[in-house]
Amino acid sequence: MIKKQDRRLRVGVLGCGPIAQFAHLQSCTKAANADLYAICDAAPDLLARMGATYEPQKMYADYDAMLADPELEAVIVATSDAYHVPMSIKALDAGKHVLCEKPIGTSVEEGEALAEAVRRSGKVLQVGHMKRFDPALEAARDFVRDEMGDVLALKAWYCDSTHRYTNTDAVQPLPVTSKLARKPAGNPKAGLRQYFMLAHGSHLVDTARFLCGDIVAVRARLNERFGAYCWFVETEFASGALGHLDLTVAVRMDWHEGFQLYGENGSIIAKTFNPWYFRASEVEIFHEKTATAHKPLGADGHFFRRQLEGLAQTVLEGAPMRGANVEDGIASIRAMVAIARSVETGERVELASVSGAV
Ligand SMILES: NC(=O)c1ccc[n+]([C@@H]2O[C@H](COP(=O)([O-])OP(=O)(O)OC[C@H]3O[C@@H](n4cnc5c(N)ncnc54)[C@H](O)[C@@H]3O)[C@@H](O)[C@H]2O)c1
Repeated sequence: MIKKQDRRLRVGVLGCGPIAQFAHLQSCTKAANADLYAICDAAPDLLARMGATYEPQKMYADYDAMLADPELEAVIVATSDAYHVPMSIKALDAGKHVLCEKPIGTSVEEGEALAEAVRRSGKVLQVGHMKRFDPALEAARDFVRDEMGDVLALKAWYCDSTHRYTNTDAVQPLPVTSKLARKPAGNPKAGLRQYFMLAHGSHLVDTARFLCGDIVAVRARLNERFGAYCWFVETEFASGALGHLDLTVAVRMDWHEGFQLYGENGSIIAKTFNPWYFRASEVEIFHEKTATAHKPLGADGHFFRRQLEGLAQTVLEGAPMRGANVEDGIASIRAMVAIARSVETGERVELASVSGAV
């Protein structure tokens, strides 16, 4: 059992759907420096079931009522993408800190409205790009920052698998569902290009930025065949590094995610697993000076719990934010919009020039 600290962030989770059940509710109960203080869901059956299982101090059917609770310090927004920005702004305006699921929003304008709310509130907002809390990816990022010197190139891939649900059905508990769950109008999977980019591309772009910094421009192509979508994205980083991002949904093989990174003083090869295995990436860091490689174990692969602990450290101790902030969230949206525009036009697209939705 993880030992609880004396001072713990009092967290309320908005949404008791699958992502809360698979990740956030347990993260709050396990976190060393946070507690599951409250849960909120418009579906009363789901609220009652999760209340009985996780025993928060408070249960709310109404989000405004949860936000009016003066004991509540932070909110995890665990809802569908369309609600991320409006629900995060409500929480910030109510004086609460926020951990919001990725992607932070679906358009550049939405992201900018949220950034303004963050500035206005003076509160902390962290985007749920939990891969930044994969301990082996943290070790890779540390090597890039401290030892690698100039980065020559990054090749990164995120390829969802046709066998993904067989894998996740085997390892996850069955989610509790409700006919009364609140969902945005329309089917988010109606436009699969947008849906795959927001759901999966957001992870790939954020991992690339986590390792190599800002992306300034992209040139992207999309191949759609036999129901599969494959984006190849030539990527220019502000550092001068070259990038190639591969987003494929779905490959006819096992989950396939990772990267190769070539730098002045070494290289990194990484394999990332389906997140629901809660297993840190396998990362091999090669040091040119000693001609040796090391592989961090990263025994604690609960990146969802670790991202919450990171947020709580920032709020409670003033520690620098280790996760993605709102500017990182906007940069991811811009990259996804630029990729979409480049696919449409065949042109190189600068991120600074884009607006609108993914
Ligand atoms: N980080 C990851 O790797 C990862 C993995 C999977 C999904 N996700 C993210 O999780 C999100 C989807 O989560 P989900 O599948 O659990 O969503 P969902 O829509 O199935 O469930 C959301 C729940 O929130 C409740 N809700 C929504 N708005 C509410 C409101 N205003 N007041 C009260 N209750 C409200 C709904 O009733 C519902 O039960 C997406 O943004 C997705 O990108 C992230």
